Amino acid sequence: MVNLTIDGKAVTVPTGTTILEAAQSIGIEIPHFCYDKDLTVFGGCRICVVEVEGARNLQASCSTPVTPGMVVWTESERVVKTRQMILELLLGNHPVDCIVCDKTGDCLLQDYCYRYGVKESPFIGEKKQLELDRDNHLIERDQNKCILCGKCVQVCHDVQVTGTIDFVERGFYTRVTTPYDLPLNTEICRFCGQCVGVCPTGALVNKQFKGTRPWEVSKVRTTCLFCGVGCNFDLNVKDGRVIGVTPTPEAPVNGRSLCVKGRFHKDLLYNPERITTPLIKRDGQFVEASWDEALDEIASRLKEIVAADGANAVAALSSARCTNEENYLMQKFMRTAVGTNNVDHCART
Ligand code: FES
Repeated sequence: MVNLTIDGKAVTVPTGTTILEAAQSIGIEIPHFCYDKDLTVFGGCRICVVEVEGARNLQASCSTPVTPGMVVWTESERVVKTRQMILELLLGNHPVDCIVCDKTGDCLLQDYCYRYGVKESPFIGEKKQLELDRDNHLIERDQNKCILCGKCVQVCHDVQVTGTIDFVERGFYTRVTTPYDLPLNTEICRFCGQCVGVCPTGALVNKQFKGTRPWEVSKVRTTCLFCGVGCNFDLNVKDGRVIGVTPTPEAPVNGRSLCVKGRFHKDLLYNPERITTPLIKRDGQFVEASWDEALDEIASRLKEIVAADGANAVAALSSARCTNEENYLMQKFMRTAVGTNNVDHCART
C-alpha cells in the first residue's frame, strides 16, 4: 500500500494505483477526456494534469502511478490555468453550437468549459470542415466535434474487436475515420454503438436521442429481452415512451457493452405485431385469453396427456427471448413437476 496526500487529504491505495484513481477513491473528481477505467491508458488529452510537489512539470494523473509520500494538488492555480488553456485550444477547433447540439447537457467538453469558466477560444484560425456521416439510420458522425480522445477507437479495437475506425493523418489534419473514409455501413461496422457510448462530445450521436435533452428522460433499468445472456441497460423514457437505450456501466453481466439488438432495437416494444396477451387456439383460430385461462388450459391439457400416454408424451420448447432464469425454471418444471426430460430451446439452431 502507498500513503500520499491529495489536496491536503491523506489517502492510502494499493501500489500501481494512478493519481486519478487515488483521487477518485476519496471523492476528488479530476477531469478527464481520454481516460476510461475499462480501456488502456492513452494519456493523450492532458486535461487530467495535476501538480506534484517536487516535480518540474505537471503530471498526467491518469497515467502517473502514486509513490510513497507524494503530495498532489489537483486544482492549484497552475493546474487550473493549464486546463483552461487546453480547453481553449480544443474550442479553437470545435463548433460552438451548443445551443442546438444534440449532446448539450451530456457533453464533457461543455461541462469542463463551464467548470473552468471557458466561454470562447482566443486561438483564431483554420477550423475542421469535415462532412457529416449520417447515411445510416442509427449513428450520426460529426468529426468536426471530435476532440481526438481516442476512446471510440480503443473500444472498437480492444473491446468489440471490430476495427471499424482509427486515427488517420497527422497534426491539424488528424481525424478518426473509417477505411477509405467510407460512411458507416453494415459491411464495415456491427453497429454495436460502443463508440457512441464512450464519446465525450457530440462527435458520435445515437440518432434515436436526437431532439431530446438528457433532463427530459427518466431511466428505467431492465434486462434485455433479445437473448438469455441477461445484459442490463437503462430504458430512456420520455413522455411515457421508450426513446432509446443507454448502457448501465455497473451491469454485472455486460458492463457497458451492448450488441446492436439490445442498443438499438427499441422498435420491438411498439411493434403492432407484438403479442401482448396469451392466445388459445379454438376451432382453428387463436383467440385472446387471460393468463388464468391460459394457465388452466395448459395444466388441464398436460395432466390429460400425461394420464393417457405418460410424461414422455409431452415436451417443452422454451425461448431465447426469455432470461436464463426463466429457461432454467422451464426445464426444472418439466423434469420435476411433469416428469420428462423432453426439453429444448429455440436458440439451439
Ligand atoms: Fe489523462 Fe487524457 S485523461 S491524458
